[in-house]
Amino acid sequence: MSSLSYERLHQNLRDLKLNGVEEILDSYLEIAAKNEIPVLEILDHLIDQEKKRRESHLFETRMKWSRLPVRKELDDFDFDFQPSIDQTVIRDLTTLRFLHNAENVVFLGPPGVGKTHLAIGLGITAIKAGFSAYFISASNLIERMMKAYRHENLDQYLKMLARYRVLLIDEIGYHPFDAEAGYCFFQLISRRYERSSTILTSNKSYGEWGEIFHDQVIATAILDRLLHHCITVNIRGDSYRLKERKRMGLTPPLQKG
Ligand SMILES: Nc1ncnc2c1ncn2[C@@H]1O[C@H](COP(=O)(O)OP(=O)(O)OP(=O)(O)O)[C@@H](O)[C@H]1O
Ligand SMILES: [Mg+2]
Repeated sequence: MSSLSYERLHQNLRDLKLNGVEEILDSYLEIAAKNEIPVLEILDHLIDQEKKRRESHLFETRMKWSRLPVRKELDDFDFDFQPSIDQTVIRDLTTLRFLHNAENVVFLGPPGVGKTHLAIGLGITAIKAGFSAYFISASNLIERMMKAYRHENLDQYLKMLARYRVLLIDEIGYHPFDAEAGYCFFQLISRRYERSSTILTSNKSYGEWGEIFHDQVIATAILDRLLHHCITVNIRGDSYRLKERKRMGLTPPLQKG
C-alpha cells in the first residue's frame, strides 16, 4: 500500500468516526498478513470490532444517564437464598416483554430481601437491550417533584421522566407523601400509564399504601393505574444483609425492650 493510500485510509476512518477500526487497523493488518487471513475475514473482523466498541460505548452512556447507584446484575442474585421468588417470573421479566407491553413491575417485601438488587438487575438488562432507564429513590423523587411543583415546572420535570422507557422508583413507603407530593406522584403514574414501564420497590404491601399517601382516595387512584398492567414479585424471607453479618461473625443489633 502506498503511503498516500495509507494516510487517506486513516484520515477517512477518522472522518467517518470509525475510531475502533482505526485503532486496531495497523496491528490487525500485520497479523492478517502473517497468517494469510482472507480479505473478507479481515473486513468482517474490523467492522465487528467497531460495532462492539460502539455498543459498549452506548451501554456505558446509558448506564451513566440511568443514575443506577450500583451495578447489581440478576446473575449475581442468589435465588437459593430467597426461595419465595418464582424464578420463572424473573426469567420471563428478562425477556423484556413487559417493556414492550408497557407493564409495570413491583418488588414488595421486608428490608434486605433483594428488592433493589432485582430492580437494578432488571434495569441493567433493559439498558443492555438498548432501552433508556432512570433510577431515583422515592424520597429524592418527592423532593425533585415538589421543587418543580413550587417553581411551576412540574410539567417539564414529568416530561423529562416520561422520556425514559424504564423508570425505577426505589423505596416507596420509607418516606411519607404529603398531599402535594401524592398529587405529583399520581400525575407521574398517570402519564406513564399504558405508555412506558415503571419498576417500583416497596417495603409496604398494597393494602398499606393508603398510609404512605395519608389519603386512601389518591392511593387507590395510583394503585388502580399502576396495577392494571403489572407484575408483582412478593418476596417473603430473611434479609441478605443479616446473612452477611452472620457470615462475618457479627451479631444483629440488640433489640430494645
Ligand atoms: N438473594 C441475594 N443474592 C445476592 N445478593 C443479595 C440477595 N439479596 C440481597 N442481596 C444483597 O443484599 C443487599 C441488600 O439487598 P437490597 O438492597 O436489594 O435489599 P432491599 O430489599 O432493597 O432492602 P431495603 O428494603 O432495606 O431497601 C444488597 O447488597 C444486595 O445486593
Ligand atoms: Mg432497597
